[in-house]
Amino acid sequence: MISHFSLDQIDESVAALQARTSKRPRVAIILGSGLNDLAASVKSPDAISFGELPHFPVSTVFGHAGRIVIGELEGQTVFVMQGRIHFYEGYSMAQVTLPIRIMQRLGVEILIVTNAAGGVNPDYVPGDVMLITDNLNFLGMMGHNPLMGPNYDEIGPRFPDMSRPYDRDLCALARTAASKNNINLREGVYAGVSGPSFEGPADLRFLRMAGADAVGMSTVPEVIVARHGNMRVLGFSGISNKANLDGSTVTTHEEVIEAGKIITPKIEKLIRGVLQRL
Ligand code: HPA
Repeated sequence: MISHFSLDQIDESVAALQARTSKRPRVAIILGSGLNDLAASVKSPDAISFGELPHFPVSTVFGHAGRIVIGELEGQTVFVMQGRIHFYEGYSMAQVTLPIRIMQRLGVEILIVTNAAGGVNPDYVPGDVMLITDNLNFLGMMGHNPLMGPNYDEIGPRFPDMSRPYDRDLCALARTAASKNNINLREGVYAGVSGPSFEGPADLRFLRMAGADAVGMSTVPEVIVARHGNMRVLGFSGISNKANLDGSTVTTHEEVIEAGKIITPKIEKLIRGVLQRL
């Protein structure tokens, strides 16, 4: 397992990408489980499979396409990750977050992260979309922070501030986009855990007590690296299942993918609305 990448290795991936596209994206969008369809809306796309870039890990999860699509959406040049890399696939934190470093070196200024998540807040129902206002970094607290290892001062500070992981101005744009599209946008805290097993009832009661509104197996490492690299971040969780606080229901990956069909059009409207207002 690769514990960290040198700047030269990161730039090799960047050079390979630049050999495939002349576009210079300002905004990157990561599409989570079941949310891949948005990439089809990108105009004049250049598509690159993850496996075509040196050092780039390959996503092994059903429901994740594993492509980068660079093109135009609502007047912005966007870098869309159709699928992402997860820690539970057995990749290192450095591998999970290599795409973010590539975005940063390409000049991306804004990262929009999306994910499928379990609703921990009892008011949430499957199909809801939650604006992520903050996160709980359980992986980092357990010693899996993607910034561990050598720090390259030219791409970010050793001890980066995390007081505002999610950009307030971008959150305001998302709220405007939600009200213009009559979307009941939830707001809350996303708890990032490793997976791949879903949480048990006691895990979920603990997460609720800790202040989590949603729980998922991604996003937080990406956001930490993006903030380290001074990118502005906006995040949406699609609530794909209700947390099973009393052990009365079963959670499956199939229902996560199924809920994505209701969530995708809402997230697409929100992202389009934000891009129009940048
Ligand atoms: N838990 C963790 N990750 C998830 C869930 C969940 O219930 N649903 C979708 N991703």
